[in-house]
Amino acid sequence: MHIDGKSVKSCTAFAADLKGSKITTIEGLAKNGKMHPMQEAFKKLHGLQCGFCTPGMVMSAVDLLKNNKNPSDQEIRDWLEGNICRCTGYQNIVAAVKEAATKM
Ligand code: FES
Repeated sequence: MHIDGKSVKSCTAFAADLKGSKITTIEGLAKNGKMHPMQEAFKKLHGLQCGFCTPGMVMSAVDLLKNNKNPSDQEIRDWLEGNICRCTGYQNIVAAVKEAATKM
């Protein structure tokens, strides 16, 4: 999720500390029924299988592109470190982030 625009692991965020913060979850990315470009890219390039990791990957990747408009493969992998995907092997996730970078 994003807290005041920065990605954080929701499992380590203590809700009582977040009073007054702007919180955005994966459900808040789509606007007017249209998926965010990062969501579209994950769908288009098969950046997910079971989807267990996907909200964290997408939210973290959106934050990455706010800070780095054209990340390299290694920068994407470094940024997403800690978000564990047991299905895709990361190749399609990296491809999806690069695709989204061309749309955002
Ligand atoms: Fe299954 Fe990432 S798509 S854990």
